Amino acid sequence: MFQQTQTPEFFRAVAEAMELRQAYLRDGCIFIKGEDLIPILLGIGAREEDFNKLRKVSHYLDPDPTVNYRTLRSGRFSVDMSAGTIERLERQPFILTTVENYKRNDSDIPRDFGDFDENHQDNTVIQAMVVLKAWITQNIPVLPRPGLDYEKDTVLTEIFNVHTFTDQGIQGYPALEGVHQDGSDHTMTVILGASNVTPDSGITFVHARDEITGVQHSETRMELLKGRYQHRDFLDTLLFKDNSTKHSVTPVYALDKSQPSYRDMFVIFSRKPRSETHLSGQPDSLKAHEKFKLKFPIWLPPLPESHTNAQPHSESQSPFSKKEGFSTLMSPDSEVLSYRAGKIGAPVLVGS
Ligand SMILES: [Fe+2]
Repeated sequence: MFQQTQTPEFFRAVAEAMELRQAYLRDGCIFIKGEDLIPILLGIGAREEDFNKLRKVSHYLDPDPTVNYRTLRSGRFSVDMSAGTIERLERQPFILTTVENYKRNDSDIPRDFGDFDENHQDNTVIQAMVVLKAWITQNIPVLPRPGLDYEKDTVLTEIFNVHTFTDQGIQGYPALEGVHQDGSDHTMTVILGASNVTPDSGITFVHARDEITGVQHSETRMELLKGRYQHRDFLDTLLFKDNSTKHSVTPVYALDKSQPSYRDMFVIFSRKPRSETHLSGQPDSLKAHEKFKLKFPIWLPPLPESHTNAQPHSESQSPFSKKEGFSTLMSPDSEVLSYRAGKIGAPVLVGS
């Protein structure tokens, strides 16, 4: 196990993360350039050599059981905010329902994806991403989803490594379902790489919640468009409040149509666990994985008192406001956070 001590890099990572948290609290959606993210992940404890491994990890994925244009693997983790631990959880079928604003041929159907093995689980960059996401989203108010247990201190984090390809008559779609939600509280998308793609491939559009679920991008309304983002460089990252918005992504188009093209991503969902009342009929298991054991402590930055009891917001508390070409979610709770390295306490541990 690698222990990240109180190095200057660690304290800088905390300060940077808290600036990102402040922007996320204000806007409900942030885009982080990969070149800015890398020093933060290194400060948290990611190892240099694990970054290069990430560029290749998408080569070893499994077929999707319901579509032919992608391969993927996934892993489930719990982030226990009160115990201060992150733990790998047992495998469980993935299910998204129409009532969660996901309309596709595989809505409401439990899907079994390939399971993360050591190549994913033990990669310290992935572990640091889970830590960073917990830092940024800690106590951020969200529009609650029915059937999620907001009383629990545990946050369920599901990570998907998705390789979407276009080749030999197969068209790749990062989001065949058109405008949709992911059933999460906070969705984070991270690019690992892409090859032979056109400039209009893999563009993410964030829409207001009023946009119609299931429509394709060409049918969406400009007045409901909140943002347009494109992951271009290694580890470019988008984070948004899933239930306050909807989103869509353009297909993967081949630049040279005689050659295959692909786009490799991590999609990291985090939300409160599903209870027995969730309409999917599948409450979340919080049991540890039997084969792939991983548990490590997480240190959480202290928050100002006004942020320690943040309640889920209502839509009336978070009106859209137009800003520089696209609108942003404005939270009433927009206190400026101030963190200085000298005030930070215990270190975070990342490792296996
Ligand atoms: Fe999505």
